[in-house]
Amino acid sequence: MATKTATKRKPAAAKRAAAKSTEATIKTKPEYDFETVKIEQRKDGITFVILNRPEKRNALSPQLHHDMDDALTYLATDPDTKVLILTGAGNAFSAGQDLKLYFRGLGNDPVARARASHASDSWRSHRLMNFPKPTIAMVNGFVFGGGLTPIVSCDVAIAANEATFGISEINWGHIPGGLVGWNVNQVMSARDAMWYSISGDTFNGKEAVAMKFVNFSVPRAKLKAEALKIAKKLMQKNPWAIQYTKEAIRSVRHMSMDQASDYLRCKSDALQRVDKEAGRQAGMKQFLDTKTFRPGLGTYDRKSG
Ligand code: ACO
Repeated sequence: MATKTATKRKPAAAKRAAAKSTEATIKTKPEYDFETVKIEQRKDGITFVILNRPEKRNALSPQLHHDMDDALTYLATDPDTKVLILTGAGNAFSAGQDLKLYFRGLGNDPVARARASHASDSWRSHRLMNFPKPTIAMVNGFVFGGGLTPIVSCDVAIAANEATFGISEINWGHIPGGLVGWNVNQVMSARDAMWYSISGDTFNGKEAVAMKFVNFSVPRAKLKAEALKIAKKLMQKNPWAIQYTKEAIRSVRHMSMDQASDYLRCKSDALQRVDKEAGRQAGMKQFLDTKTFRPGLGTYDRKSG
């Protein structure tokens, strides 16, 4: 009897160790050794990308732009990354463009300025927005100006209730350039985009949810756990379907109805060609034939096909 119990139940310490091992980061790859960005890859396929200049509130320096551009390029095709969570080290997500190193420092160096500007647009508005796997912005604290752009580019955003957001350019005699003005208009109402851009007022995580700038907000102490729950939920979905869905939802936004109809038909056909697990057929079989799942209430069993 005692032996039976021992084989069935793991001691608490062993359980904790097992839980820890699924969460542990895998060996950091040499190409992910960046000066201003920290990559933490977990064994379960969730990768944290951490803006890592906490002493400067993760202000976006030229080096950080180049590091992020490289990091996202590698991670896009990294088989160990199934979902990406973007966050900041310390008490800030990002204090926006680095006023010293990006604006003042590059003022007299047109070549370095052009390179940094390219990397700045590239990672925030192209690589992140077109990242082939789900992306989650985990807004842990201060975020201003250019720091808002990557939040808009991520598929999902969760913030700490205590986070402080601001379109602060007006406060120092600037406009929300560098695509910030365009970005905030993608997700905010016209009223909110205008008000926060001309007033420079801040808003917190709960207010960001109310204005639909982010999806969710939770107390800071629960932020990481809740972000991981979102990541795990998205990882259950068919990865080809989620990639094509992301692309489709973003692309049709500015199309006419006829263009969208044509595009979505083509996209739908293309998905069936790339989907290596033939999810659509598997889902229909499980619903219509074996009657083992209901599409309205969850994901089909991807293992049994
Ligand atoms: N650019 C350059 N350096 C910055 C930036 C920035 N955007 N934000 C913070 N830092 C630096 C500070 O200069 C300071 O450096 P130091 O220690 O060498 O003096 C360090 O980070 C810490 O900053 P503090 O202001 O001391 O930190 P605090 O926690 O008190 O305040 C806050 C944080 C509110 C984020 C404040 O630093 C701030 O207002 N930053 C600027 C925010 C902003 O408006 N950014 C520009 C947006 S516009 C755009 O992105 C185009």
